Amino acid sequence: MTRILFVCLGNICRSPMAEFVFRDMVKKRGLSAQFIIASAATSTEELGNAVHYGTTAKLAQYGISTEGKRAVQLKAADYPLYDYLIGMEQSNIFAMRRILPTDTDNKIYRLLDFSPQPRDIADPWYTGDFDTTYNDISEGCTALLNHILSEQPKPTTFYPLSFK
Ligand code: 4NP
Repeated sequence: MTRILFVCLGNICRSPMAEFVFRDMVKKRGLSAQFIIASAATSTEELGNAVHYGTTAKLAQYGISTEGKRAVQLKAADYPLYDYLIGMEQSNIFAMRRILPTDTDNKIYRLLDFSPQPRDIADPWYTGDFDTTYNDISEGCTALLNHILSEQPKPTTFYPLSFK
């Protein structure tokens, strides 16, 4: 069993998109029973709210529903419940490190650190561009799933200590 928590600022655009895209990927491979997949926010801005229309509309193009998902906040108590706690961008990682206990088990990653081109997921909040976000998230989820299935060494990421 592999347990994954995707994390972004509000838990209405990017991390729910990653949650439902990854769920769809493992379902299509017949692997659903081997995964626990969820998403959470670092902020309180959108708690209790449904997934943003831009994300639901984009995922609907691929037959993926986000029904029932409501924004929840990341808690320190989540740390032992997951194997991977995965932020969408570097600022999410900094916020996650403030909420979570010290990452003694190396569980905290940025999604596209699993890609050959490590970078932040495009943020659609100000641009309204959910297409680029979807492409980034598909790339990241594919790379993450390949990593898990092949048990490659975990990626290393440089986070400047000054941000801590
Ligand atoms: P998300 O998008 O972090 O991808 O869910 C955002 C949601 C809310 C805000 C910013 C981004 N906000 O500023 O409230």
